[in-house]
Amino acid sequence: MASQDELKQAVAKKAAEYVKGGIIGVGTGSTANFFIEELAKVKSKIDGAVASSEATAQRLRNHGIEVLDLNDVSPGDLEIYVDGADEITEHMHMLKGGGGALTREKIVAAVAQKFICICDQTKLVPVLGKFPLPVEVLPMARSHVARELVKLGGQPKLRDFTTDNGNLILDVHGLTILNPVEMEAQINQIVGVVTNGLFAARPANVLLLATDDGVKTIT
Ligand code: A5P
Repeated sequence: MASQDELKQAVAKKAAEYVKGGIIGVGTGSTANFFIEELAKVKSKIDGAVASSEATAQRLRNHGIEVLDLNDVSPGDLEIYVDGADEITEHMHMLKGGGGALTREKIVAAVAQKFICICDQTKLVPVLGKFPLPVEVLPMARSHVARELVKLGGQPKLRDFTTDNGNLILDVHGLTILNPVEMEAQINQIVGVVTNGLFAARPANVLLLATDDGVKTIT
């Protein structure tokens, strides 16, 4: 049986096959880090990358890949966004933000033509919510948002962490997310929420899933 790191490496390698040129959107997390290593091998093909976090930007630069400001990139040039997920369903709805980069991840994903989600087999779930749902909040709204999340049936816990945007994260436990599109919108309506880790309104276009039997491509 392959180790989790071997699975992550295999799926990152597969994702590199989608790199044809232009500008690449790059996610955050351990699987995305394996992808950066693969991207470095084909960096002569691309015109640079857009990073979804300061950590990813630093790692890209360390590999000699130019990091561009998203505002200077036209959507037509950002063909793919490659990132992991904490959970994904067969409907391509994702729960993300375990690494706290959810807001920038969602912004880069919104601009990219195609979201390629790279996961190992442990991330595919029938229903989202076992992994606590991260919600980025403005610091002054922390208690208000927490109370509203309790009304939705969750148990929010403040993470000891500050985001790249200077905000806080509430990790919401105990949710069974049967309708991710609705819940994503509902949580985003709470005043003080920057965004939440449900990626349902803009699901993945391709899921590359590393399994013990090889990498499966699901579209
Ligand atoms: C980062 O904020 C997250 O959205 C990650 O993409 C997600 O947590 C997956 O991370 P791993 O690849 O480390 O599991």
